[in-house]
Formats: sequence, structure tokens, C-alpha cells
Amino acid sequence: MAIDFENAIAWKKAAGAERVMLDNLQPNILKGHVREFLTVLFLSFDDPAGGRAFLRTVAGGMKSAWRHFKEIDTFKKTMVPGTSYIGVGLSRAGYIALDLPIVPSDPAFVQGMQANPKLNDPNPQEWEEHFRKPSKIHAVILVGDMLSGTRDAALAQVVAWVNAGEGVSVLARQDGLGQHNDNAEGIEHFGYVDGRSQPLFLEEDVSAEEQDTDGITDWNPSCPLKQVIVPDPGAPDPDVHCGSYFIFRKLEQNVRLFKESERDFANSLGIPGDERAGAMLVGRFEDGTPVTMQFEDGVESPVPNNFNYASDTKGAKCPFAGHIRKTNPRGSGGFGQPEKQERTHIMARRGQTYGIRTDDLNDGRIDNKPEKDVGLLFMAFNSDIGQQFEFTQVAWANGIGFPEVPDGSPAPGVDPIIGQTPNDAQRPAISCPVKWGDAKSIKTVAAPPRTVTMKGGEYFFMPSLAFLKNI
Ligand code: HEM
Repeated sequence: MAIDFENAIAWKKAAGAERVMLDNLQPNILKGHVREFLTVLFLSFDDPAGGRAFLRTVAGGMKSAWRHFKEIDTFKKTMVPGTSYIGVGLSRAGYIALDLPIVPSDPAFVQGMQANPKLNDPNPQEWEEHFRKPSKIHAVILVGDMLSGTRDAALAQVVAWVNAGEGVSVLARQDGLGQHNDNAEGIEHFGYVDGRSQPLFLEEDVSAEEQDTDGITDWNPSCPLKQVIVPDPGAPDPDVHCGSYFIFRKLEQNVRLFKESERDFANSLGIPGDERAGAMLVGRFEDGTPVTMQFEDGVESPVPNNFNYASDTKGAKCPFAGHIRKTNPRGSGGFGQPEKQERTHIMARRGQTYGIRTDDLNDGRIDNKPEKDVGLLFMAFNSDIGQQFEFTQVAWANGIGFPEVPDGSPAPGVDPIIGQTPNDAQRPAISCPVKWGDAKSIKTVAAPPRTVTMKGGEYFFMPSLAFLKNI
């Protein structure tokens, strides 16, 4: 059976070429791998042969996507936990440092993250030191698990391989640590449920979404394989050995400033409480309830994802600037782009929070909230960086005029969470309904200050296991 890149895949039925693909694909691409405890290592190779030998060794300790799916299945039936996740990505500089003849050709990957001025990222000289010189960042290794002990054991093994390798060195280590609300759902540091809306690439996951959650009638999360995997050009058989481009961005969050700005934003709009003000900035309440669905929180179980903006064409419930409306307009972005085309920009997000909180995330206070050293390790898999991550950040989040608004309405402004402008003092105003659902009550007020700071990142390619074993 040839691989059908135009649809999601049924992994339980995968045979022939599809099974070979899944046996050689890294985990965490088609489906997120648990990574409550995560360590990200950035590596440099000084000796091509030593670097290649090291990668062959690591590949021997990695599992495939198929084995990951099987482990989840077993866990559901027997509660026997799966093994740790080890993921490996190479930057373009890494392919060159390893003397590899074939380099993945995505133009954004080839240029690197620092090259796109439209991202409006801070000057790379202000990035964390190890991100400043992309020519030195050759590889990224992710080690993740549900428990710290098993992550530590897997990490110790990877570090032992690094130390045994010729000319392999660790440039930097970054830990990630999951955060949760009182419902035990994963949240980001501003306190909002995160990771709910994802493109689904497994037919089994689409069926589960249809049967076990709020359904897929108003938003169908099914996505074709071609949106996340591409042939691995350096692998023995690129027709069946696939990989994916991996985006890594360290985004620091000033939680205190965000919480103050929720309060100030509520005051400028003249609405009671901070909850709906924050929900209008994010597009969901802290518990995940979409603000386009109702004016208060409370639909937290399961967190809804079966919604779109068809009944909110004026931005009278969810503002056009809301983070989730900007980054996935669910068919309402306008500018003549049909939903089918709009969906091609969606990416598989696999982020994790970082930093240790000494306060209680859910205590409702502002004065004890951290201003730095916590944030999101934004990670995502793309098949086309320019059309997915960069398009979302540049055209949608940073795009003052996106999405299209009714004639006479003010421009949406930039995404209040991740939008970046060349000058922070020039963040355009945003418009929100004072009264939920009442377009006449829409008021334009000053945008909240930027509370997320990009600290550095790079683009990588996560190749097939067949490539790594034969490198
Ligand atoms: C610190 C930075 C960020 C924070 C605090 C944040 C927060 C959130 C939250 C709370 C959600 C809602 C949960 C969900 O639907 O899964 C969300 C969804 C989303 N975010 Fe972010 N995010 C951040 C960075 C980014 C970046 C850099 C991008 C892409 C350039 C991005 C793209 C998305 C997308 C595509 C969705 C799903 C929207 C949907 O399908 O409805 N986010 N984010």
C-alpha cells in the first residue's frame, strides 16, 4: 500500500509502505508524546565522523512513531507506562558540519530563523548566548517523559553517548516542565489551558474526537499527512522514509505584566472582572471555554474544540485580535481564502512550559507573579516552514490587518499574546465588545503591552530513523 499523503492515516491498519514509514518516523510528530519532564540539548559537532557515529548510537536508543502509538494503546489497556521519548533534529549548519551531501531544501530551513526580518524578532544579539551563532547549533535532542526519574535515566544515557562521542559537545541545556490547573489540565504560564486545538493526523484520533469529545461538526481537526511530514531526502528510501521540520523558539512570559494588563484592559473597556478581558485577548477563558461560544467560563469538561466563528462575523463575541482567532481563524480569515487553503497554514504544536514557579499559578494574585525566567518552549512540526510557522507569525499574528473585518470596522491589530512589531510603542489599538454579542458595543482601546519576549531559536529537520541509523 503506497503512502496516502492526502489524508490522515489509520495506524492500526498500516501495512506495506505506510508501516515502513511509521516504523522509521520519529515520535511526537504525528501525535504528541508525553513530555511533562523535558530536557532539550543543543549540540555542536567538531568532527564529522564522530558526529555521525554519535547519531547512529542515539538512533539505536530511539523508538519509532509506530512503537509510540502501540505503547499508548498498551497503557490504556494495562496502565503499563511507555518508554521515554528521544527526538533528534539537525539544523542546516548541522548537515554541513557532518559533511552530509544532501540537505533538506525548505527555504526557511536553509536560511535559518535569524534570517527572516518579518518575524520582527528581537535583535539576535539580545537572544540567549547559545542562540546567537547559528553556525554552531548543529543538533537538538529532546528527552521527555511523564516522570522525572525516567526522563533523568534517559537523559543520563544520552549524555553518556555525548561524552563517549568524538567531537560532540553540549552547547546548552534547556529544561521544560508541565504546569497544570485544578482540573489537572495542561496550562501555560498566563494560566490558560493550552494544547487543546491540534491538527489530527491519525484516523483513530479523529474518531476519538468525534465520539468522546464535543464532536467535529463545526471544526474538523483531521489533517493530511502532507501537512506535517515530507520525504527525508538523505534517507535510503525517501519514498517511505519521512521526516518533519521542527521549529524551536524560547518565549519568555512576563506573567505579572500580563495579569496587570488583563486588569487594565478590563478597566479601559469598562467591563467587570478580569476574566472576560483575558479571554478576549486569548480567545478562550482560562479553563479553555472559547469566548466565541459564551460570555463566561465553565465549559471545561471536555474543553471544547468543535467551534468556528460563523456566528461571530463582527467580532462581537471573540475579538478579531484574539490569539486563537488570529492563529486559526477556522475558515473566517477572509481575503478570498477558502477554508481549505486557510487550513494549510495549521501546524502541529508540541510546546512545553519552562521555569519553576514558586507561587501558586491559580491563586488569583498578581503581586507574586514572575516577571521573567518562565515561559513557553514553542515547538512545532511543519512540512513547509514558510507556509506554516512563518506564515502564522508574520501574516496572521504580526499582521495588523488580519483577519478581514467588515467594511468600516477598525483593523484587528497584532495578536496581543505573540504579535511582534518593529517598535513596541507602536502596537496598534484593538477592538473588543463591551457587551458580549453586541456589535454596537465594540470599543477600540489601546493594546496591552507586549508580555512575551523571544529569547532565541532555530529551525531543525527531524529525519527518519533509517537516515540516522545509516548516517
Ligand atoms: C508564550 C507564547 C504563547 C502562549 C502563552 C500561547 C497560548 C495559547 C493558548 C492558551 C491557546 C489555546 C489552547 C488551544 O487551543 O490549544 C493557544 C492556541 C494556539 N496557539 Fe498559542 N500561545 C503562544 C505562542 C504561540 C505561537 C508562537 C504560535 C504560532 C506562531 C501559536 C499558535 C497557536 C495556535 C495555532 C493555536 C490553536 C488555535 C486554534 O486552533 O484554535 N501560539 N495558544
